[in-house]
Amino acid sequence: MNVELLDLHPAPADLEQLVREGMTAIPRQLPAWLLYDSEGSRLFAAICEQPEYSLTRTEIALLSQQAEAISASLGSGVLVEFGIGNARKVSPLLKALNSDLFVGLDISRTALRDALEGLGREHPQSTMLGICCDHSQLTDLPHHPLLDGQRRIGFFPGSSLGNFSGDKAVALLQRFRQLLKGGPLLLGLDQPRTPTLLEAAYNDAAGVSAAFAQNLLKRLNRELQGDIDVSRFEYRVRWQSSQSRIEMALVSTCSQTITLAGQRWHFDADEAWITEHSVKYSPTAAEELALRAGWRIQQRWHDENDHVSLHLLLPAN
Ligand SMILES: C[S@@+](CC[C@H](N)C(=O)[O-])C[C@H]1O[C@@H](n2cnc3c(N)ncnc32)[C@H](O)[C@@H]1O
Repeated sequence: MNVELLDLHPAPADLEQLVREGMTAIPRQLPAWLLYDSEGSRLFAAICEQPEYSLTRTEIALLSQQAEAISASLGSGVLVEFGIGNARKVSPLLKALNSDLFVGLDISRTALRDALEGLGREHPQSTMLGICCDHSQLTDLPHHPLLDGQRRIGFFPGSSLGNFSGDKAVALLQRFRQLLKGGPLLLGLDQPRTPTLLEAAYNDAAGVSAAFAQNLLKRLNRELQGDIDVSRFEYRVRWQSSQSRIEMALVSTCSQTITLAGQRWHFDADEAWITEHSVKYSPTAAEELALRAGWRIQQRWHDENDHVSLHLLLPAN
């Protein structure tokens, strides 16, 4: 099998520390990657199939229509995808780039292994290197003989950057610049649009998005010996226009105290526990963000409604 996996997942002690930090923040919020254990990854894949959530379908169509033009602009090198999920987007680029190595990063161990095994069968000529890690904390890619001296090409689709707001988004793009060592980055973002449509996309009628958020509480109960009663938190989604983002939260339905890793945390009735944000970028906002992080946008491809864009970023100097 042409799949190699490296496990750099944060340790359980790091999880306790993250929970302490997140529970003392106002409002309470943990890093979004905690949403992705194996069940979280399964639920996210199901969200992508919901009629209200068009981002995945649109981005896949855009990538397959523009694969040749995009890969010609990217040039040759090893593709490095950040947060590959179920790897439904990368195939047209892999085919066009025809490199003997692909590097996929994801925080979700099982999903990463399954995704790379699938890609490995589709692209038997390439080695699939998987790194299970929090990519926002990675300082370099691990050594691999096929990576030596190769130009690196980053791929970050799915509007995943939207989980990071303000300075954290800038820091992540700076981190990717460091990891890519002068290579380009293909960044997929979606634009602000009608709030009701965006709110529906993150609160589908079938309740999959709500289950995805609630799965965070189940994960914490399991991994930190918690006693959270999931039914006492209600899923809420709202568009925050001043920050150009969707906010997803679990709202406490009553005054209650929960225990996690032996520590007790009180929630007032109606208090929100933010599960994630999804920032939406206009082309101008994307340009400003890129510049703050030391990148410039060289080219942009978008769908016919201009809802979803793929940006080619090059180091600014
Ligand atoms: C919104 S999903 C997008 C998946 C896929 N790239 C797509 O476009 O459909 C985000 C993916 O990134 C992974 N992820 C989230 N935060 C991460 C982090 N800090 N480090 C590594 N992977 C992360 C999740 O496990 C998930 O697979």
